[in-house]
Amino acid sequence: MTPVRPRTPGRILLLGGGSEIGQEILRALDAPAGSEVILAGRDEQRMAELGSELPYTVRTVPYDATALDTHQRLIDELFAAGPIDLVISAAGVLTPQAELDTDPRAAGTLIDTNLTGHVTALLAAVPHLRAQRRGLIVVLSSVAAVRPRRANFVYGAAKAGLDAFARGLADALHGSGVRVLLVRPGFVIGRMTAGMPPAPAATTPAAVGAAVADAVRSGAPVVWVPRKLGLLWLGLRLVPRPLWRKLRR
Ligand SMILES: NC(=O)c1ccc[n+]([C@@H]2O[C@H](COP(=O)([O-])OP(=O)(O)OC[C@H]3O[C@@H](n4cnc5c(N)ncnc54)[C@H](OP(=O)(O)O)[C@@H]3O)[C@@H](O)[C@H]2O)c1
Repeated sequence: MTPVRPRTPGRILLLGGGSEIGQEILRALDAPAGSEVILAGRDEQRMAELGSELPYTVRTVPYDATALDTHQRLIDELFAAGPIDLVISAAGVLTPQAELDTDPRAAGTLIDTNLTGHVTALLAAVPHLRAQRRGLIVVLSSVAAVRPRRANFVYGAAKAGLDAFARGLADALHGSGVRVLLVRPGFVIGRMTAGMPPAPAATTPAAVGAAVADAVRSGAPVVWVPRKLGLLWLGLRLVPRPLWRKLRR
């Protein structure tokens, strides 16, 4: 696997530009001075504030993961301005399952945000990346993708779909010069999980950022954060269903 370590300034696109994990990935990447970062998201003011703290040239663009019809045009416009070396797909929402149980439309929005929007935006980017013959796509999956839990099964379904999409895309791009890095964090203490008691082996956005930056440099195709979750979830897949369904979270 060819390691990706740009020595010349490049362009990086963060879809879900306000993501705490996304911001930490950008920081940890330590990209060369002069690199341009495009923060694509809903809250341009917040993204501008976050961007002012990054050591890069930063611009913000409006991006709504659920506005599926807008993704092709946005991506085409961004690539028309020049090659993009790294696309990080980080948009996500973690709506409590209890709310989704009484609001199926909100469940649909969660699926659009965590799955469908990634698919439409990334498939729009793929022909451009193929034409460049280089580039890396980082996809923020989750351990929730591995086995659905009753406590958040709609979120788990979205992540399972996204995880499968990313693995299939990686195979489809094999040999093209374009790579996919699949990231499976466990519970990350931060904005998305605010107010929730941390799960065992909880981690931080900064730790995810550092692990992703390492994987970008090494060329690894998948990264679990923390790393031990990879082994742990191998075992958890085997827990009998009558026991599994008793899990409260
Ligand atoms: N935190 C965890 O425990 C954890 C664990 C595993 C995987 N992940 C995944 O990692 C990714 C990043 O999460 P995070 O921890 O960085 O949480 P975060 O700080 O809440 O970031 C999520 C980002 O997604 C954006 N977003 C939500 N709906 C959107 C929409 N319709 N259009 C565009 N952007 C939208 C949010 O925008 P606003 O800034 O406008 O709210 C926010 O910037 C997510 O995909 C998440 O599922 C997180």
